[in-house]
Amino acid sequence: MAHERHGASRLRSPGIGPEQVELLLAACREAKEFAYCPYSKYPVGAALLTTDGKVYSGCNVENACYPLGVCAERTAIQKAVSEGHTKFRAMAISCNSRESYAVPCGACRQVLREFGKHWDIYLTKADGTYIQKTLEELLPLSFGPEDLKTF
Ligand code: THU
Repeated sequence: MAHERHGASRLRSPGIGPEQVELLLAACREAKEFAYCPYSKYPVGAALLTTDGKVYSGCNVENACYPLGVCAERTAIQKAVSEGHTKFRAMAISCNSRESYAVPCGACRQVLREFGKHWDIYLTKADGTYIQKTLEELLPLSFGPEDLKTF
């Protein structure tokens, strides 16, 4: 599948194999089909790969009380963590845009960062092209669990 590689992030992170990338890309696209987004009409899907090879997917789930809506990335994280998984290799995110990559919001970046800075996030466009970023790149100088251990 066609994709762009942003060299710096490739150098810093070995990433996952091409088959696993394809698996994650397909899983986030499928998850997007279940998005419950009657208000924004902006479906998002996410797929999360654990270090032991399991895939947890999620979609955005909106609510008539707007602030209670949850993003796809956090849905996937909640599903994985609530089933005992806290070590992740990668996440892929999908939206319907042909022009721009699906990017995690700031709140999701912080939630993902809780589980490490050195894992990979694949940001995709509707045509399946993607770029790969580490969490460190998406959320530089981040605050995390380690910061609570320094005093
Ligand atoms: N959304 C996500 O699911 N993930 C993001 O990182 C960006 C935004 C959802 C939230 C809301 O349901 C809709 O997209 C429009 O903001």
